[in-house]
Amino acid sequence: MKGPGTIFMQDFKPPELITDEEMNALMTAIRNRYGLDFTNYEKTSLKRGVTRLMMKHNMESSLDLWSRVLKDYDFFMSSIDDLLVNLTELFRNPDVWIKLRDEVLEEFKGQALNIWHAGCSTGEEVYTMSIVLDEKGLLNRARLTATDLSSKALAKAKSGQYSLDIIKQYLNPFLKFFPHKQIEDYFQFEEKHAEIKPKYRQNVTFSRHNLVHDVAASKYDIVFCRNVMIYFDDQLKLKVLSLIHQSLKPNGYLIIGYYDIMPDSGKRLFQVVDIKTRIYRKKEQIAS
Ligand SMILES: C[S@@+](CC[C@H](N)C(=O)[O-])C[C@H]1O[C@@H](n2cnc3c(N)ncnc32)[C@H](O)[C@@H]1O
Repeated sequence: MKGPGTIFMQDFKPPELITDEEMNALMTAIRNRYGLDFTNYEKTSLKRGVTRLMMKHNMESSLDLWSRVLKDYDFFMSSIDDLLVNLTELFRNPDVWIKLRDEVLEEFKGQALNIWHAGCSTGEEVYTMSIVLDEKGLLNRARLTATDLSSKALAKAKSGQYSLDIIKQYLNPFLKFFPHKQIEDYFQFEEKHAEIKPKYRQNVTFSRHNLVHDVAASKYDIVFCRNVMIYFDDQLKLKVLSLIHQSLKPNGYLIIGYYDIMPDSGKRLFQVVDIKTRIYRKKEQIAS
């Protein structure tokens, strides 16, 4: 039994800076004011992002956030990064890249390839693809489009520069893919950072794109949408999956993230190629 004055660790909860009702009202106001729709983002991670933002700016009540976000467009745009999760990695989940190299890309030998990285974050995923395409002799005829909602992430992606500490963290997945190569073959090392070599960026175009509102700009052979939909509810996932389905050429490939869960409604649009690496293929005949 708890005695008077006894504090149990399980009783401790961080203060709730914003309630669910306030979150819903704020997201609706943002949608109406700026046309950016977060209303179907997964609630827990979005709330975590909003709390992170409030703590960063020492805001004690949601009213402070409310007035700042809705009155100050620049503040709102620079805050998007606190709401979104930009985590990414070079050769993230190496098994996917091995599967692409050994099986999927075999199909495209001698062909031109159009690829979309939707939710590319700071660029590591699209540069990994450039390196893999080069390995297969397919880079020269490939066009890679990398898009994200976050302008800050895109600016970093375009720079192609990563701190030496970050590059060090990428060595394990890199070596799993290339046990006999050196990362220096792909990056130019400077005193404080390493920069992707021009060969691996010359076919890449970066642009801002919102998967929730915008249409796709082209028809693609392969679309990557990895670790983006984990933050969406099922309704929004289906909207994005339908957009990707329309943007793919017949039999085109979709690659999602290891922790992404394909909703049942999405299984009508895509068939599994390899469940372990989350590789899917566009279904032409959509079952009703
Ligand atoms: C966790 S990162 C994934 C990066 C990379 N695809 C990977 O798996 O390593 C998720 C990215 O999705 C982006 N994102 C979130 N909502 C988006 C939206 N509606 N449209 C486009 N990108 C979005 C975020 O800005 C973030 O950069």
